[in-house]
Amino acid sequence: MKFSYSNLSFLLLLTLLFSSVSHAQDDTSQKIESLLSKMTLKEKIGQMHQLTGFWDVTGPVPADGDSKAKYQQLRNGEVGSMLNITSVKEVRAIQKIAVEETRLGIPLIFGQDVIHGFKTILPEPLAESASWDMEVIKKGAALAAKEATAAGINWTFAPMVDVSRDARWGRIMEGSGEDPFLSAQIAKARVHGFQGDDLTSPHTLAACAKHFAAYGFSESGKDYNTVDISDLTLHNFVLPPFKAAVDAGASTFMTSFNIIQGVPATANQYLIRDLLKDRWGFEGFVVSDWGSFAEMIVHGYAPDAKFATEKAIVAGTDMDMEAKFFSNHIEELVQNGTVAMEYVDDAVRRILKVKFDLGLFDNPYLYCDEQREKELIGTKENRSIAYESAVKSIVLLKNEASILPLNKSQKVAFIGPMVDDKNISLGNWRLQGEDNSAVSILEALKAKKIKFQHAQGVRLVEKQVSFPFEVQLNTTDLTGIEEAVKLAKEVDVVVLAVGEDGFQAGEGRSRAYIDLPGLQKELVEAVSKVNENIILVNHSGRPLDLTKETALSKAVVQAWHLGTESGNAIVDVLYGAYNPTGKLPVSFPRSVGQLPIYYNHYSTGRPTNPGNDLVFWSHYMDEEETPLFAFGHGLSYSDIQIESFEISSDSMTKEGTIEVKVTLKNNSDIDGSQFLQLYIRDHAASYVRPVKELKDFTKVSLKAGASKTVRMVVDKEDLSFFGPDGELLLEPGVFSVMVGLSSDQLLEKIVTLED
Ligand code: NOJ
Repeated sequence: MKFSYSNLSFLLLLTLLFSSVSHAQDDTSQKIESLLSKMTLKEKIGQMHQLTGFWDVTGPVPADGDSKAKYQQLRNGEVGSMLNITSVKEVRAIQKIAVEETRLGIPLIFGQDVIHGFKTILPEPLAESASWDMEVIKKGAALAAKEATAAGINWTFAPMVDVSRDARWGRIMEGSGEDPFLSAQIAKARVHGFQGDDLTSPHTLAACAKHFAAYGFSESGKDYNTVDISDLTLHNFVLPPFKAAVDAGASTFMTSFNIIQGVPATANQYLIRDLLKDRWGFEGFVVSDWGSFAEMIVHGYAPDAKFATEKAIVAGTDMDMEAKFFSNHIEELVQNGTVAMEYVDDAVRRILKVKFDLGLFDNPYLYCDEQREKELIGTKENRSIAYESAVKSIVLLKNEASILPLNKSQKVAFIGPMVDDKNISLGNWRLQGEDNSAVSILEALKAKKIKFQHAQGVRLVEKQVSFPFEVQLNTTDLTGIEEAVKLAKEVDVVVLAVGEDGFQAGEGRSRAYIDLPGLQKELVEAVSKVNENIILVNHSGRPLDLTKETALSKAVVQAWHLGTESGNAIVDVLYGAYNPTGKLPVSFPRSVGQLPIYYNHYSTGRPTNPGNDLVFWSHYMDEEETPLFAFGHGLSYSDIQIESFEISSDSMTKEGTIEVKVTLKNNSDIDGSQFLQLYIRDHAASYVRPVKELKDFTKVSLKAGASKTVRMVVDKEDLSFFGPDGELLLEPGVFSVMVGLSSDQLLEKIVTLED
């Protein structure tokens, strides 16, 4: 930097800013210490106790969970947080008890699962991750925060940053897919979106990175199942998004239900105290997942509640969600010397800090403004963000002979249970989103004045049970197929809108078969026999096995569960008002037997060799090796191709960089965009590395016929990896640098990292 007076004043300004930030921090620490010194042990334990509202949500509520007892606990200062209290009226009433009726008047923090929107429903997180668009993801989180805070909530149990490779796992819909790098970018975008630049603003809330850790690696994709992974997998695939959440300033973390290296996550000292708090410097607090303290006994780890309590607090869990182990046992454990008071103080300091950060001590009713509640929730402006997010989340998986986009003069039949459905697209965590409030495909077609014909074909859902939101499928009534077939014969093109229900994916919703549920396979088969121009529009929270249906269709559009604006987004893509940009954040398997299938796998000693017909290679006798659609795949209506790929050098020093230069050309007459992706392979390392790993991506927009040269940089961070104890390793040797528009179609150059 060249020195000048303006630099000097800039430096002075920085120093002033820095010193005012550190003064504010000192000031907060002093306030926390002063409050802590006044608190009794009981009051401290109260801060570490989180209670649910007055109804159950995702798990069993302990027997004493009746309202009268809860009010009494609130008055006694025995509660530090509540979850599932929604609306300004309710939050204010409960906050009033904490502030006005307890001895120290410490405000409560109110948590809720604001996962993909609040009243205006956004695409489910996996869907939104398919946008690969960090700005839109951040805007979505900010919108969810704006609506939720207007209803009194100041803490969301999101983002879920669990990497997962198994489409059977119902909660894959809640994360960002199979890749640690993409998931880390998304974790950062979501934390920034929820928390904004100023946590004391009434429009932002505290984020919670969950589930720490490895919940997405539940064996056989069965929710709550055992996790047994290597340290290398933990550090290289599971933890990067969590680290990104810490770096982005996430205020809180939530532990996971599973065991990890034999110890339940809630009592895992290595993960929470050593890694998260000490090594990563996380200053916020850690809440357990619902009742997970008690599950430690069922896991066969803790012989009793006291043991579980001791292990959890020593490990670094600060708040107990709904198990009541902290509230029932810590007092005795501290008094008999089993648990040192320092652990309790550490937990309380952290909880109080987040409350200070949120501005709750300055104004406990900051989030309680009826006017804001009326004005900010579910507005038209909010819907435009939901639309942008929905349209950018759609992935065009197949488009033979450019059958899409459709034009309005074609005779098109829209067939399938999703065409006039207003409920399914709301997905799983629909919170205040009213039932049947999504824009259906049918409504969107009408509003856009597109002529079409319609038949339902088959119903997907027979009956919906309100709690726990189970769906009973139609497995018998095929009568509508006749009408659908008749209609399909009369038209140029058939759009088949199919998929799984919003409540067939999500917590506790693992599936052993991930094909089209109910009678939809029969519908696709019957209709495709009489019309060869089939466009399949699949609605699902997870990758489905669409192998057969893809073969029967000319085009396949992945339309996930897109939220409130679903129909508008789908119709705009089908008719070309929006040229698709989405990319898969997760591989789509050909069959359930391929699971887990993911692009960043290791090489075996006998790698798959498609041309080899000998038996003794890593392969299936009865299934292909590749996925149906690979990670990073997603077509556009434009024909965008890579024209050239150059690197500035074929060798690099540890402190050096290599410039990657890629020229792309739009060979079509349609303006469009593609995500250029950069992958690395380390050919020989002290711990083997995957065959490819995403390290960078960028959106390239090209007018019809235009070309553009894009530059990316490879540096030591891209060539490093973690050893078994999380140590960062950078090893000289040969690497591939690969670029492409999908993980399965890459151009490659070899570079050497010098000693
Ligand atoms: C259990 C879920 O695993 C977790 O993600 C959620 O935040 C809590 N229930 C609270 O609803």
